[in-house]
Amino acid sequence: MVAITNLLLTATLGAAGLGSALPPRIGTTVVDGENSPDASSGRVTLHQVRNPSYRFNGALSVYKTYLKFGKTAPDYLVKAVAKIQDSRLAEAVRRRGDTGSAAAIPIDEFDIAYVTPVTVGTPPQKLNLDIDTGSSDLWVFSSHTPASQIRGQEIYTPSKSSTSQLLAGHSWSITYGDGSASRGNVYIDNFTVGGLTVKSQAVQCAQQVSSSFTSEGHIDGLVGLGFSSLNTVNPKAQLTFFDNAKAGLEKPVFTTDLKFHAPGTYDFGFINATKYKGEITYVPVNNDPGYWTFTSSGYAVGSGTFSTTTVTGIADTGTTLLYLPTAIVTAYYRGVSGASNSRSYGGYVFPCAATVPSFTFGIGAARVTIPPSYLNYGPVTDGSSTCFGGLQSSSGVGINIFGDVALKAAFVVFDGSNPPTLGWAAKA
Ligand SMILES: *[C@@H]1O[C@H](CO)[C@@H](O)[C@H](O)[C@H]1NC(C)=O
Ligand SMILES: *[C@@H]1O[C@H](CO)[C@@H](O)[C@H](O)[C@H]1NC(C)=O
Repeated sequence: MVAITNLLLTATLGAAGLGSALPPRIGTTVVDGENSPDASSGRVTLHQVRNPSYRFNGALSVYKTYLKFGKTAPDYLVKAVAKIQDSRLAEAVRRRGDTGSAAAIPIDEFDIAYVTPVTVGTPPQKLNLDIDTGSSDLWVFSSHTPASQIRGQEIYTPSKSSTSQLLAGHSWSITYGDGSASRGNVYIDNFTVGGLTVKSQAVQCAQQVSSSFTSEGHIDGLVGLGFSSLNTVNPKAQLTFFDNAKAGLEKPVFTTDLKFHAPGTYDFGFINATKYKGEITYVPVNNDPGYWTFTSSGYAVGSGTFSTTTVTGIADTGTTLLYLPTAIVTAYYRGVSGASNSRSYGGYVFPCAATVPSFTFGIGAARVTIPPSYLNYGPVTDGSSTCFGGLQSSSGVGINIFGDVALKAAFVVFDGSNPPTLGWAAKA
């Protein structure tokens, strides 16, 4: 383990590409080809794996979205989360047939159904991370995280990696809408996903994690794939994994083929023509302040007519649901009998037996249709006949978010060329 100063780091950066005797520059990409047959040609595929403890909790999902985007969640939402957690806790106690203390019962409330295996360091340490296009930090639970804040997560131990280097004098901090924060120090180390290795990736080690992450025992951290301008490392923001990997990729792109109730894939460096049909329609991306922000050309509910209206929002793999302006959400649920915006459940709900329409959004002249099944997120609590909607209002969160509900309905190209674009196509 070697500590390097910012000065040395800057010098290293400046010397990039001058010869193999020099230390690897920040973001050196190598491909080892182990997990991905095409890695040597600058193409890799990452396969998601299912989070074994995943249980959807609609109110919690909405609550976390408030926190992620720095908003204070309203009281009714906090109460709705508590109510569902209490009912699950009560159920677990009943199943165990004892009255053991709450803390003794491993209740996990997961919002994230799929994670992606990665390795950090030498020899490789395995972690399961959440790929998040709505943030730009690569942070992990680590040997610096207090034990009291770890509940089953795998950790990265820089002292056990011969290639780790402390990025001296650097720190990071992400503040959430509940006032809690995740923060820590920064190491530079090898970071490998799907056979693609970035040799000098800033790996942000948590010295404190927000409680909402502690409770998600199978997520060991995040890989932010937003733009590097959103990275929170101080005094010098660090490049995301994608920005570091770009030079070694055949094309400066990654694509998502996320799936309904099944693990999806992320491809880096190429567009796999067998994963989509028809044309890919590209729209401009506004990357200030660092999200994949684009403008949709309108929407339709079920087989209704298409309303042309501009809806600006972000493509965010790290958000589960679709959040749109209230007027659109209201128009959608008008077509669902028995639907209501429930404060006690923390969002739009409807009788599980109700027929829900599909939802279509426009990408230029193209249309992406989200099937009805994706828009019913299932019972608000186990066995309930009330179901939570996959489409929710963005008014409290303050930003329209095309989360997994929307992304699963298409093959999406995140094109990091200058200027960046987002491409949408029908899945094959
Ligand atoms: C990490 O990078 C070093 C060179 O910087 C290399 O020798 C080592 O094999 C790499 N480890 C892994 C696990 O890729
Ligand atoms: C493209 O996708 C198909 C279907 O998922 C897969 O079988 C094939 O191996 C992929 N090709 C490459 C080059 O990854």
